Amino acid sequence: MKVLVIGSGGREHALVWKLSQSPLVKEIFCAPGNAGIGAIAKLVPIAVDQIFSLLQFAQKEKIDWTVVGPELPLSLGIVDQFQKEGLKIFGPSQKAAIVESSKIFTKQFCKRHHIPTADFEIFDSYEKAKTFLFHREKFPVVIKADGLAQGKGVVVAATKKESLDALEDMMQNQKLGSAGRQVVIEDFLEGEEATYMIVTDSQNYVAFDSSQDHKRIGDFDTGPNTGGMGAYSPAPIVDSLMREKIHKKIIEPTLKGLAQEERAYQGVLYAGLMIYQGEPSLIEFNCRFGDPECQALLFRLKTDLMEIIQSVDQKKINQIKINFDSKSSVCVVMASFGYPGEYSTGHEIRGLNLVNSQDVFIFHAGTDKKGAQIVTHGGRVLGVTALGENLQMAIKKAYEGISYITWNNAYFRKDIGSKGLKDES
Ligand SMILES: Nc1ncnc2c1ncn2[C@@H]1O[C@H](COP(=O)(O)OP(=O)(O)O)[C@@H](O)[C@H]1O
Ligand SMILES: [Mg+2]
Repeated sequence: MKVLVIGSGGREHALVWKLSQSPLVKEIFCAPGNAGIGAIAKLVPIAVDQIFSLLQFAQKEKIDWTVVGPELPLSLGIVDQFQKEGLKIFGPSQKAAIVESSKIFTKQFCKRHHIPTADFEIFDSYEKAKTFLFHREKFPVVIKADGLAQGKGVVVAATKKESLDALEDMMQNQKLGSAGRQVVIEDFLEGEEATYMIVTDSQNYVAFDSSQDHKRIGDFDTGPNTGGMGAYSPAPIVDSLMREKIHKKIIEPTLKGLAQEERAYQGVLYAGLMIYQGEPSLIEFNCRFGDPECQALLFRLKTDLMEIIQSVDQKKINQIKINFDSKSSVCVVMASFGYPGEYSTGHEIRGLNLVNSQDVFIFHAGTDKKGAQIVTHGGRVLGVTALGENLQMAIKKAYEGISYITWNNAYFRKDIGSKGLKDES
């Protein structure tokens, strides 16, 4: 089978890496990919939002399956376009991808279907939102842009002043463009976050193991949100009782509700959860694998990913058993210093070849080739991912791997995984 993976991050490197191990897969292309992906797949220089060019490429190359990594092409309707031409593609339709592309949709959907989530108000007028915040007494409060914002659309504001500044940036100064034209203002939820991903053929679903992301740039969850600075899997806080609650209170009503509303969902559904006093509530849905949770998760996945993808198409997901290595995994993201703000790129990455443990793999994100050199080419650069007997061992191995790798402005968090240790028995 010929497979095309769309995207260029650590998640897509993990997808390509995992698919390349499938006996069903003979050849892999990746558009546009990165230096690490280029070592195991043929790179195609087409951007993820160039749907028509991607379609033409898939037709010309006679691609059997296209696997979409990021949310942007899904929200632009890539699945609908490919399927219209009779091409097989893995991911939700544009109508179903709205669970990620509109936070307002998802909040109102939760209300309609009694899915636990923070109480909220919706605003399309800056003046009204400002008045609402001005009279509010409960802080922190969370301000969310409605549309896609690459991890920059949410501000957890500790004070009234912070909340008003965030609102002004989004609605008045249009810092996020049209994504911030409407906002959700919601209650701050206490608790611990966890990521729960499932794969569904729209009728049935199977759940992946849990994982946990680290959104903030700084150690011990300080500083602004990022695309994700590291992840571990499984998340000890999600035990079997919690899984049951997540299925019954969040996943099942969601799949049923989407089908009822003619938005039947196929593909990977990502639930970002807050767990407080033994109860999960929904923070957000994403319409694809999380990054970097995907790296941590696929590193433990034993089942053939191509088989999972095919079973979705055949509506036989209930016949698949997804197996995971019982070991823990940790992915530590190495970034360019300055990210998520300004940073410089083009720095040579050294030491990549020194990491040669069976249990460690370096997924590339923002990397590029310059002659024989591999250079930095983005905010998040690498995801050093390790397996260990338990979370503590996995953390140790990931950081050992990192100790070999350097470049001019490398930055990484030192505490990835540590919040899971307190829950590990
Ligand atoms: N209601 C909330 N209470 C507490 N923290 C929140 C809340 N909503 C979002 N957050 C924090 O902000 C982060 C980003 O919010 P999220 O809705 O996941 O947006 P996105 O991933 O699209 O940026 C979450 O991972 C969480 O840390
Ligand atoms: Mg999120």
